[in-house]
This record gives sequence, structure tokens and C-alpha cells, in this order.
Amino acid sequence: MSKWKIPMYKVLVDDYDVIYSSRVIKRGMSWAIGPEIEEFESRLAKYVGTEYCIAFNSGTSAQHAALLALGIKQQHRVIVPSFTFISTANSVLMVNAKPVFADIEEESYGLDPVSVEKSITTNTKAIMPIHYAGGACKIDEIYDIAKRRHIPLIEDAAESLGAKTGKRMVGSYGEMAVFSFAGNKVLTTGEGGAIVTNSKKLYDKLKLIRSHGRQETENYFQSNLKPDYISVGYNWRMSSITAALGLSQFKKLGKMISMRQKNAKYLSSKLRDMGIAVPQENTFEHVYQLYSVRLKSKRLRDGLMNYLTKNGIMSKIYFEPVHKALLYRKLGYSKQKLPVTNKVSEQILSLPMYPTMKQSDLNLIVDTVGKFMKRN
Ligand SMILES: Cc1ncc(COP(=O)(O)O)c(C=O)c1O
Repeated sequence: MSKWKIPMYKVLVDDYDVIYSSRVIKRGMSWAIGPEIEEFESRLAKYVGTEYCIAFNSGTSAQHAALLALGIKQQHRVIVPSFTFISTANSVLMVNAKPVFADIEEESYGLDPVSVEKSITTNTKAIMPIHYAGGACKIDEIYDIAKRRHIPLIEDAAESLGAKTGKRMVGSYGEMAVFSFAGNKVLTTGEGGAIVTNSKKLYDKLKLIRSHGRQETENYFQSNLKPDYISVGYNWRMSSITAALGLSQFKKLGKMISMRQKNAKYLSSKLRDMGIAVPQENTFEHVYQLYSVRLKSKRLRDGLMNYLTKNGIMSKIYFEPVHKALLYRKLGYSKQKLPVTNKVSEQILSLPMYPTMKQSDLNLIVDTVGKFMKRN
């Protein structure tokens, strides 16, 4: 299936995944809007510590919905990082608003609070920081800025389910937080997403946005009552089979995070001595959705990536700056000054990271990186 000796990620699968999803399949009913959706939502809300959760079919549709729920539209600006997956900025374009890129800091690779504050104008209608790679950005400081300036905060926590700052869970700070359950995430359902919030008002809006603007009193597929349609909505619902996988994956979330942390600890203990900057976790508990290291130069980073590829070990650049993508160059962002984003993007490299890595996989990565670093 894979051309790689060690791919970037593999999913931890057990009998529960098969039992839970096949239970939905075998019942031959309610593959859509089944009870698993609400069960998954309440499991997730409880885990993060929020009142409400609403499941989506992807992190991207969840981001789009979050901005729609806040009423963000033309003329409005949303502060986002450029060091992120493209959908963070694209979701702002999807509602015809303007992404404003702030720079990042070098500890967590999240938005720099100083740059965020500088980027605020009267048209700023939301701040959407990301928690990078399973870590946590300087969310306490960004939360304070958002509160003081009365600007809604949406946490893009797509990569960081389970990460903690002090005693608080990532995803429990913002008006809303978005999670992704895409194939490479800490908890995956293949594709999927969710929003958590403490606001009943936002929750009600998000339900309408998710499902055709349909005001439902009963399960649409199980009821012959006539619902009314009260606003424009999409079909961004998660399927019941997907939610069942979410529930079975949840059963082992703690274990999967510990396995990632153990693997990361081992890699860091070896790579640190080779002149490679390993992920920092001084101020938060990292769940290592990615294991990203930093080399001293672009030349070294590109060289290491090529060497790993030749040796069958996948590595990948998370992330190239969004403002340098063709779409954003065409939109006039190419002259944007984001020195830290540019520098980090040139030096960062994500190595394979998943719960079921064998000791021999970890050793092969360490030995191969070691050989390259010795020669360079
Ligand atoms: C930071 C970030 N935001 C948003 C997303 C989008 O999530 P999805 O792929 O589920 O649409 C991802 C993941 O792919 C991501 O890493």
C-alpha cells in the first residue's frame, strides 16, 4: 500500500473500530443522523470541557461554519497565521472576508500575541490562531487580547485534541474551537470535524448551517412532520458510521496520546544531541499529532528530507507559508512581511509520528538522521 518503509502516519485500529462501525452498517438504518452523532458530540464536549459540540464532515466545513455563525462577511477581517494548513485562511475567503496574516513565535510556532495585537483594526471581526502539531499556542495571552478588544476568538485546534495548557484543555478558550478528524489526526474517523462552544446561541446557528437551515424538532429521516427551512444552510453533516468510528477511537484516545508522547520523547532524546531543535513543551502538554524538528538552515533541511526519502522514510514540510501559495500571491499577499513564518517554514521538517511505531522504526529514523548530520 505504501512505498515508504516508514510512512508519516498509521492509524491504531482495534476490534472496537470494527464492532462499532459494523453495528451501524448491519442495522441497515440510520446511516445518517443516527444516535452515534449525539453520543460522539457529548463525548467530545465532555472531554474538552465545553457545554456543546456539533459534529461536521470535515475540519474545513467546521471552520467555514464557525465564521458564518459569527456573521463574518465582506469588509470584515480575520487574523490568522500563514504558518498553517491552507483551510485556516481559505475559510475566511469562503465567507468573502479578508484574511490578515500575523506572524508566529518560535516556541510553539503559533501566533505571536504581539503581532496579533498589531494586526487589529476596527474591521477585525475574529482572531483564529492554530495550535500547531498537537501543541498549544500562546492561547492565554491571545485570549486576553481578544477579550480586551472585544473580538471573538476561534481556536483552530484541528491538530491538538487532548493538548493541555496548565490545567485547561486546548479548545476550551475560544467562543468556538474547531477540531479535525482527518486521516492523520490524533483521533481520526477518516474524514470529519467538530466545533465545541459554550454558547447556546452559536450552537443553534451552527445546527442550521450544518443541515440546510432546517428547523428540526425530530430526526428528519425518521419523521413525517413537515420541517421549516429558515436560513441558507449546507449539508455538512457527519455520517453515523463516521461517528461510530469516532466513539471507538475515543475509547483509546488516552492510550494513543501516551504512545505518541513516548515515541516523541525517545526521538527528542536522540535528535537533541545532533544539533537539531526538537519540539518544545515547556508550557503545555503536547500530544504530537506531528513530530516537527527544526534544522539550522534551509539547505540542511532540504538535504535531510532528500536523504530520508532515499532511505524510504517519509518526512514532510508542515507548513509552507499560506501567503506564498499561488492563490494568495494572486490576491496580493506576496509582499507580506512575516519574517518568523518565513524562517520557520524554511527550517521545519515533520518526521513520521504515530502510536504504533516500533522501536526498530524509531531506531531507523535516529540512525538515518544521525548519518546525514554527521556528513553535513
Ligand atoms: C491547522 C488545521 N486547520 C484545519 C484543518 C482542516 O481539517 P480537515 O482536513 O478535516 O478539513 C487541518 C487539517 O487538515 C489543520 O491542520
